[in-house]
Amino acid sequence: MSLLIQEIPTTDAPIKLLLLADPSEDKVRSYLPRSKCFVASSGGVVLGACVVQPLGEGTHELMNIAIQPAHQKSGYGTALLKWVIDFFRKSGASQIEVGTGTFGYQLAFYQRHGFRVTRIDRNFFVNNYPEPIFEDGIQLFDMLRLTLRYPGNVA
Ligand SMILES: CC(C)(COP(=O)(O)OP(=O)(O)OC[C@H]1O[C@@H](n2cnc3c(N)ncnc32)[C@H](O)[C@@H]1OP(=O)(O)O)[C@@H](O)C(=O)NCCC(=O)NCCS
Repeated sequence: MSLLIQEIPTTDAPIKLLLLADPSEDKVRSYLPRSKCFVASSGGVVLGACVVQPLGEGTHELMNIAIQPAHQKSGYGTALLKWVIDFFRKSGASQIEVGTGTFGYQLAFYQRHGFRVTRIDRNFFVNNYPEPIFEDGIQLFDMLRLTLRYPGNVA
């Protein structure tokens, strides 16, 4: 069945799915109202979601992207990310930023689509979350900030 990707009202955002990428429900609920929410679905079933908030002056931040665990590693995340990148290119954005951990497959996932490392937020994950966050048994401390620039859309 083919994948349908579309923007939905943020009030309909699939919160439980978004918690896969950001363990703080408070944080997710705080950035949702000022963001755009996109979902990827097949046969009426939501398989993935992505949330992007505007930072001003043509810059947007990808706050969250998540695919249902049973459907990960099937190319849906790649399809959704490509669609979202294209959506903001067409809207005239100059760049998209994203914050992620300093290791793991997610880093390759973004860089494969042209995101480049632009900054390190040291201790971001310890300073901004009440509980330690572990991935692959390793505690996340620092956040890498990555930026995808749209060459044709300079602000
Ligand atoms: C990150 C995420 C959105 C990617 O979506 P996806 O549909 O699983 O990704 P794709 O199938 O398009 O695959 C993209 C690449 O990531 C790899 N990948 C995806 N999930 C992986 C996992 N759990 N472990 C290792 N590699 C993984 C794929 O193998 C693929 O790499 P390849 O092209 O070298 O084979 C999804 O895995 C997810 O929801 N993860 C949990 C939430 C999260 O971490 N979000 C990002 C926050 S920074």
